[in-house]
Amino acid sequence: MDNKDKAEILRIDNLTYAYPKPFWDRSESKNVLEGINLSVKKGEIVGLAGESGCGKSTLAKCIVGINKVEAGILCECKRGMVFQNAYGSLNPYYSVKAQMMEVLKLRGIKDKNEKKMIINDILIKVKFPEEYIDYKPGELSGGQRQRAAIALALLSDIGLLIADEPVSALDVTIQAQIIETLKQIRDETDLTIIVISHDLRTMYNLCDSIAIMKDGKIVEMGDKNKVYFKPEHEYTKLLIKSAFV
Ligand SMILES: Nc1ncnc2c1ncn2[C@@H]1O[C@H](COP(=O)(O)OP(=O)(O)O)[C@@H](O)[C@H]1O
Ligand SMILES: [Mg+2]
Repeated sequence: MDNKDKAEILRIDNLTYAYPKPFWDRSESKNVLEGINLSVKKGEIVGLAGESGCGKSTLAKCIVGINKVEAGILCECKRGMVFQNAYGSLNPYYSVKAQMMEVLKLRGIKDKNEKKMIINDILIKVKFPEEYIDYKPGELSGGQRQRAAIALALLSDIGLLIADEPVSALDVTIQAQIIETLKQIRDETDLTIIVISHDLRTMYNLCDSIAIMKDGKIVEMGDKNKVYFKPEHEYTKLLIKSAFV
C-alpha cells in the first residue's frame, strides 16, 4: 500500500513546551519546543535529527507522556520508548524473563501457554537469543540489552515505538544489525517508529521520512530522499554536508 493512503497515527499541532521550574525560580520560562507540527502515518519510520540540545529527547518524552503537555498531541495508540542506554528501559535487578512476565501480568494475561507463546514470538521478532532470557541486563552485551529493551516495549502491545538514540552506544556492526531488526519488525507488524539519532547515515538507512530540528523547532520535514538530496533549509544543507564529507 502506498504510504499516503495510510492512516495518521500521531498528529502534533503547534506544540510548545517548557520544563516546569521550581517555585523560587522567577526567571522567565524558556520554551524548549516551539510551534512543533508533525504528522506520522501508521507503519512509517520517522527520523528526528538535529544537534545536541535542540530538543529531540524533550519532544520524544512529550509524545510518550513522560513530559506532560496539555494540548497539541493527538495519538490514540499505546506508546513505548527505548533509550540510548538500555538501562533506561530495563531493571538491572531482574532477569529479562522476569521483566517480560511482569509486563504480561500487567496486560492481564494469565494463561501459562499464552504467555510462553507471546514471549517466544517477541524473542524471534527482536532476535534475542532464548538462552539468555534468564540473564540480568548487566550480564548481556550492549546489543542484546537493546534487543531486550525493544522486546519489553513491544510486549506492552504498543502501536508507536519511540527510540531515542537506540544504537548510539553500540559498535558499528551491531548498530547495523539492530537497525535491520527494527526495519524487519516494521515490515512484519506495521509498527510505527520514531527514531532519534544524530547520525544521518544511520537515519537514511532506517527511515522513510526525516524531520530536522533546530533550537526547538522543526525546520524541515519530508521524505528522506527529498530532505537528503534536495534540502531547502540552510541548516539542513549544512547538516547533510557535514555528515557525508
Ligand atoms: N529535565 C529537564 N529540565 C530542564 N531542562 C531540560 C531538561 N531536559 C532537557 N532540558 C533542556 O532542554 C533542552 C533540550 O534538551 P534535549 O531535549 O535533551 O535535547 P536533545 O535530545 O536534542 O539533545 C536543553 O537545553 C536541555 O538543557
Ligand atoms: Mg537527547
